Amino acid sequence: MEEKQRFKRTTVTSALPYANGPVHIGHLAGVYVPADIYVRYLRLKQEEVVFIGGSDEHGVPITIRAKKEGVTPQDIVDRYHELIKKSFEEFGISFDIYSRTTSKTHHDTASDFFRKLYDKGEFIEKSSMQYYDEEAKTFLADRYITGECPHCHAEGAYGDQCEKCGTSLSPTELINPKSAISGSQPVMRETKHWYLPLDKYEPWLRQWILDEHKEWRPNVYGQCKSWLDMGLQPRAVSRDLDWGIPVPVAGADGKVLYVWFDAPIGYISNTKELCAREPERFGAWETWWKDPETRLVHFIGKDNIVFHCIVFPTMLKADGSYILPDNVPANEFLNLEGDKISTSRNWAVWLHEYLQEFPGKQDVLRYVLTANAPETKDNDFTWKDFQARNNNELVAVYGNFVNRALQLTQKYFAGTVPAAAELTDYDRETLHEFADVKGEVEKLLDNFKFRDAQKEAMNLARIGNKYLADTEPWKLAKSDMTRVATILNIALQLAANLSIAFEPFLPFSSRRLRTMLNMSSFDWEQLGSTDLLPAGHRLGTPELLFEKIDDVVIEAQVQKLLDTKRTNEAAAYRANPIRPTIEFDDFTKLDIRVGTVLACSKVPKADKLLQFEIADGLENRTIVSGIAHYYQPEELVGKQVCFIANLAPRKLKGIVSEGMILSAENADGSLSVVTTLSEVKPGSEVK
Ligand code: 2FM
Ligand code: ZN
Repeated sequence: MEEKQRFKRTTVTSALPYANGPVHIGHLAGVYVPADIYVRYLRLKQEEVVFIGGSDEHGVPITIRAKKEGVTPQDIVDRYHELIKKSFEEFGISFDIYSRTTSKTHHDTASDFFRKLYDKGEFIEKSSMQYYDEEAKTFLADRYITGECPHCHAEGAYGDQCEKCGTSLSPTELINPKSAISGSQPVMRETKHWYLPLDKYEPWLRQWILDEHKEWRPNVYGQCKSWLDMGLQPRAVSRDLDWGIPVPVAGADGKVLYVWFDAPIGYISNTKELCAREPERFGAWETWWKDPETRLVHFIGKDNIVFHCIVFPTMLKADGSYILPDNVPANEFLNLEGDKISTSRNWAVWLHEYLQEFPGKQDVLRYVLTANAPETKDNDFTWKDFQARNNNELVAVYGNFVNRALQLTQKYFAGTVPAAAELTDYDRETLHEFADVKGEVEKLLDNFKFRDAQKEAMNLARIGNKYLADTEPWKLAKSDMTRVATILNIALQLAANLSIAFEPFLPFSSRRLRTMLNMSSFDWEQLGSTDLLPAGHRLGTPELLFEKIDDVVIEAQVQKLLDTKRTNEAAAYRANPIRPTIEFDDFTKLDIRVGTVLACSKVPKADKLLQFEIADGLENRTIVSGIAHYYQPEELVGKQVCFIANLAPRKLKGIVSEGMILSAENADGSLSVVTTLSEVKPGSEVK
């Protein structure tokens, strides 16, 4: 309680999306809808708040994309910045500003930020050898070097990780490294960079996060703790690249600020831009970033936790004049129909496409994404669930209640709010239940529990629906109009309350409902009151708040995804053609055998690896295999597998693996272990 009173105002930021592709439902569910709910709620409570957004327009992927398309990086970010900005507007994400990191204000701000830390001696300057692409004339980021994995010998491992066996790599470990840009073999070159000494700030970070922010979400706190427990290293904050903000010191030609150094500063730059544009409304930017009475909250996805909880706070602390984030409510990921959302595989529901296909249905998507928000674990979006939540909740509960209350008032009282007479105990009970909801929703929203808060708001509609079903005013109309008047008065008060309770979640529908109720003013404080609409008040014209979504519409969406899957599979097949013919002798070099799995367990600290004990007909052997994402260890025990028996042993995460278990790879990269149709003796040869 005390904690809260310390703050007079709130600065809310939401992650700046990269301007190299459109935004999809994963973005909306993970970051922008929760941030928007929170901000709308604070505004409704008349609190001082600023909501900062913008596009992240630097970084290597943007330059690669530009190169591929034969345009400039600026062309790429211009295109997507506009598209993303429009999508957010259309979904009612109510930013006070949505700017971009290519703005002049941002370049100056980020440059000054670096310069101040540089002048304070906060950076370490260090030279190191890095891969350089002589053809493309550029140093190569780790992700842009591929080669053979030194551990599992898979081709196409990246300079930072082998996706096959899950091992973290550094680019110099790759066998036969190649530049992903030109395909040429890169050479080593010396280069100088500036490093932020996170290690120096580690004791402070431990205290600030682990002791003073125990209230952060468990996923956020846990990730921070594991980073801190592993020990922090200095992090380079510059890169050799020709796209970005030049490092503002002498002798730094060809070097720019690392995108993760400049992007979070974008929150500050965008606040500056906003305050310069609307000084009467927002005052001085410093108030939002430097006044200890301001509460700073970052909305992000889980892949951004380390940058917002460790790196950016260290930058702010090193500067010394800024406040630090009070909370970082990061979400887990949203999957789509059971698969990870992927831009490159076009496995996503794109916001601009959704709006073409479901015009006017922004709130339906907002509702479903909040109802399934990945707050504590990854969650799944399915079209069936989308339909069910629309039809069974928005239409059947919320919409139905409002529609009945309005239609009945239209019918019996010509659209004018009737006066309530004496209340029954049931009336009082209903109104009482209603009054409690305000406190409940507040508690949940204050703690960033958006899905439960929305559920609570929906409960209000359920109460209303039940009230009308129980009191059946349409049956009383012949005998007791005084009673009908009371019931409808109560129902209309409930409907008016719903327009307030749902305002943070479903702003479009709330506005329409207010128009139907002809309600001009509303604020959060009024939530729970029973006299929002005075007797004699004229209502507007009733309309349906939500409409049913038919099976055919949903089937079309599912079909669209199936088509995407088929296209991806065909592309994967084309990208993986049959290899050149070999002679029989080549084949016989491979000794493939069948073994029975005696034991199987997860390999600690390697999320992809399983360790097997295999009965191979001789002495048993240990094999490590990168299939942990696709099997629980227990389900493989007792099964027969095929393995290469004469592969030279190699060490994976400290375990000597004696062979390789064969799996078939699906187009989506998932693996299925190869087995025999009927059981055979362990050690049987596969030929
Ligand atoms: O992960 C991303 O999409 C980043 N562009 C987020 C940046 S958040 C902030 F630092 F700007
Ligand atoms: Zn590997």
